[in-house]
Amino acid sequence: MSAIGIIGGSGLARPPELEMSVDLATPYGEASGPAHQGIIAGREVIFLPRHGTPRRFAPHSVNYRANLWMLKACGARDIIALSCVGAINPRLRPGDLVVPDQLIDYTYGRLHSLDLEDDAHTGHFDFSEPFTSVLRDTLLASADGSSSSGRLVDAGCYGVTQGPRFETAAEIRRLAQDGCDIVGMTLMPEASLARALGLGYAALCPVVNMAAGCGDGAVEIDALLALMVEFEPELLAVMRRACETLTTNTKA
Ligand code: HPA
Repeated sequence: MSAIGIIGGSGLARPPELEMSVDLATPYGEASGPAHQGIIAGREVIFLPRHGTPRRFAPHSVNYRANLWMLKACGARDIIALSCVGAINPRLRPGDLVVPDQLIDYTYGRLHSLDLEDDAHTGHFDFSEPFTSVLRDTLLASADGSSSSGRLVDAGCYGVTQGPRFETAAEIRRLAQDGCDIVGMTLMPEASLARALGLGYAALCPVVNMAAGCGDGAVEIDALLALMVEFEPELLAVMRRACETLTTNTKA
């Protein structure tokens, strides 16, 4: 049976069950580090920390192509991505958990094509719905009732910014006008590469701060990091439930 790939963001360390370390050479160079493979709830699971362990790669320098290629080569057919975000929509607040249904890509200079000759953009494909709906449903069901402090939010538009700096208040106003509800730095080109590789892909996004200009004063990095740590047991529990629930690969 196909495996589930989990891409850990800043807020999730390797689940302890995933003990076997796997490192593969890829046509795109080095992935963020070895993946960790094992069984959760009877399902084979492959976990890859997006930023490396210890953290080495900022969002703009992650080798997204190598990461996705390696997960697929290890047997993953569905990818669950974790990505902490700031809230733009005033109805959201830190502590909420969002399963986005749309995204807008504001990144630049990242390699979006699997073609090894970078300017040979021959691979067109539909990307109207960037997230796999069955996988989103699984995440929503798995996270339902999981949070003691925040709410589970079905749908939302994730604006992907370049980082590693946070945005200006004016940039966030522009994202709000564009229809973004949340902002983070990592789901592109991850989501489109997953689609290009034929993988299912959905994301779970803990809200760890109000975006620039949306809260009281500056974005407080210490408070945001503390909330990431607080979220970790909840995220782990949601991942475990998702592995129990997801019995077949969503692209089959
Ligand atoms: N902006 C961009 N990325 C983020 C934020 C933010 O406010 N919070 C967490 N990741």
